Amino acid sequence: MRRLLLILALLLLPVLAQTRYRVHAPAVAWPPGPGQEVVTRCVACHGPELIQGQRLSSAQWDKVLTKMQGWGAVLSQHEKARLVEYLGRHYGSEVPDAPPVRVRLEALP
Ligand code: HEC
Repeated sequence: MRRLLLILALLLLPVLAQTRYRVHAPAVAWPPGPGQEVVTRCVACHGPELIQGQRLSSAQWDKVLTKMQGWGAVLSQHEKARLVEYLGRHYGSEVPDAPPVRVRLEALP
């Protein structure tokens, strides 16, 4: 059964690859609380899913933020500390995974 699904998926791949889609995903709001005012600036270069799908320890979040600063994100020391706390609270390694979201694909002409 698994193999059949795999073959089907491989057969469908060229068909899907030739069609362009627009993705309609529900917007996920940022949880309110201290640090929310900083995290809203994190979506200048990429969507919030990239952040909200992660489950990292505070030390890992700190490293991600240092990497983002290297790529151009502007954060003061104070804002960075607030953000590490915010991200650790809402997207920390102890936080359960978010339930999957339903995404609608609209084929483009
Ligand atoms: C401080 C707010 C902020 C947070 C939190 C944040 N980003 Fe990123 N971020 C990137 C790029 C580029 C990538 C990697 C490319 C991709 O996967 O789209 C990335 C990827 C990520 C990832 C994926 C995992 C990883 O480590 O690569 C996370 C998590 C992330 N960013 C978090 C450019 C930015 C820019 C642009 C100046 C800003 C601002 C920015 N990022 C602001 C932020």
